[in-house]
Amino acid sequence: MAASIQLGSVTQTTVLNSSDVYPPQRTGDATLGLQVYRANGCAACHTEQVRQEGVTCAVVLTGAGKNPQAVTNLLATLTLTGLTKEAADAVADQITAAGGKVEIHIVPVGTDIDHGWGVRRSVAEDYLHDYPVQLGSLRAGPDLANIGVRAPDANWQLLHLYAPQSVTGTSRMPSFKYLFTVQKVGATPSPDALNLPAAFAAPAGFEVVPKPEARQLAAYLLSLRANVPVYDAPFTPPAQP
Ligand code: HEC
Repeated sequence: MAASIQLGSVTQTTVLNSSDVYPPQRTGDATLGLQVYRANGCAACHTEQVRQEGVTCAVVLTGAGKNPQAVTNLLATLTLTGLTKEAADAVADQITAAGGKVEIHIVPVGTDIDHGWGVRRSVAEDYLHDYPVQLGSLRAGPDLANIGVRAPDANWQLLHLYAPQSVTGTSRMPSFKYLFTVQKVGATPSPDALNLPAAFAAPAGFEVVPKPEARQLAAYLLSLRANVPVYDAPFTPPAQP
């Protein structure tokens, strides 16, 4: 009940400093894939929740001004990352006084973030389209809250599901071969056939083709991208190139 009062009215939000809505709607395949994830017990070994221990500030130079040598010399004497807001302001003032231009960036920190599992903590909005929400509680494998950012190639996901060791040599993840069909190659090979390394390939004359469930699961994994700043979990995104 308390949870429903606190979170029952969560709706789509907007990405900070942008007009984009978040989270985007999932495709039909990805929505079905969530159920495949559930049916196969993926949440027994994987979490979908990034923790954050706090935020720090980083001072980032955006222009060296008229006396770049002085700014460079000054920067060499300063700590620019892992700062409190007050310390960052003080450092920014010193650099500005020397003629440099700076921005102060908000940088979430924590062990999950150090692992590369996300850029900020997970928030309620991340799960808006999840029914059921599958946070998981055991990390036999990596957190998957951002696997769509980390491994955005559907073919990689399919190879990994069929034979985890074909892409991550020492993987201890079980294979999900039954989400695929091994079939005789017809007149022409199927365009969907997996391109497996020889050690994992089907016997000569046979090919491995994903069933719809495998395709849906891969689409779901690619939809896991909780990497934008939102009001409850702000950070400064890297500048667009
Ligand atoms: C018995 C535990 C176990 C189960 C069940 C399991 N996994 Fe894994 N998973 C692992 C381990 C261990 C790894 C790390 C080794 C690797 O990358 O293959 C992993 C890695 C992964 C990765 C790569 C993560 C990365 O950061 O590179 C993905 C994606 C993944 N699993 C998806 C799934 C999906 C989808 C399911 C359900 C169909 C599933 N796993 C079921 C243990 C498991």
